[in-house]
Amino acid sequence: MQHATLRARHEDEAQFATDRLQAGAELAAGLARPQASISPKYFYDAQGSKLFEAICALDEYYPTRTEYEIFRQHGAAIAEAVGQGATLIDLGAGNCEKAASLLGILRPRSYVPVDISTAFLNKVVAPLRQAFPGLPIHPVGTDFSESLTLPGFVQAQPHKLFFYPGSSLGNFGPLQAVRFLQNIREHGGDLLIGLDLVKDLGTVEAAYDDELGVTAAFNLNILRHANRILDADFALNDWAHHAFFNEAQSRIEMHLRARQGCRVTWPGGTRVFAEHETIHTENSYKFTVEFATEMLHRAGFTGLTYWTDPAKKFLVCHARAADA
Ligand code: AVJ
Repeated sequence: MQHATLRARHEDEAQFATDRLQAGAELAAGLARPQASISPKYFYDAQGSKLFEAICALDEYYPTRTEYEIFRQHGAAIAEAVGQGATLIDLGAGNCEKAASLLGILRPRSYVPVDISTAFLNKVVAPLRQAFPGLPIHPVGTDFSESLTLPGFVQAQPHKLFFYPGSSLGNFGPLQAVRFLQNIREHGGDLLIGLDLVKDLGTVEAAYDDELGVTAAFNLNILRHANRILDADFALNDWAHHAFFNEAQSRIEMHLRARQGCRVTWPGGTRVFAEHETIHTENSYKFTVEFATEMLHRAGFTGLTYWTDPAKKFLVCHARAADA
């Protein structure tokens, strides 16, 4: 028993070391490119996850609030489209709050929150188990950003509903987004997805450059995470938050812009940045209903139903997996 525990811990640590090495290599490669970049997945260390929660509570950040409003307004219709007895698979569940708000009305047969950290998921589902004693909850810890693999018992569920809210799909470029949706479709489930809609520039840019500077802190925090993982020496004072809407690509771009020329060094590498040179940290695509429809059809979904808020800021869509 004890040996098993020791071995498990040893394997955990070995896995941790491998993950860190791989992440370090990915970060170094991104920093070496002509347009330096850091993947947005590195926003979400413990501090970054808290900052993201703070973003969701900002006046300027309309997506979270608006999506909740749509769920509240159209909960009954959504439940009818979804049908009874689904297994709710929550992709990027985080604190599970969004799915929790729907459990009462969707009445799924079981709930499968999926996110990177199993430890964190186990912590957040404890109160959910109290609140929904009849509902089986099976947390799955996995990074699905490259491809989605699910445990066999989840795979075997007859009626799977993939829940992908918050316009998280917007972090992918259009081709990657279709590939990701196809990947979901291959699991043979239906989809309930939330997408941020194209809207006036002022509203969308303010959501990514709030007056309190929470989004700026969220963006800068990625450098602290990079310093830890890569053992780099980013000085946060050298960098400023920069977010703008790229009309041609229909996306918000977040960058960190060098306030002055500087050099960043890590074991095995270094890079000089000129004043105003940037590190690209995130794309957040904004969709039209037409474009969303095309993406979902291309990925093999059919029977689309849409709900939106009166100001048409945000879109919630239910889609069925077309028979292969
Ligand atoms: C979690 C990717 C949906 O793009 O709006 C919020 C992340 N970045 N503010 C988004 C984010 C800056 C968010 N997503």
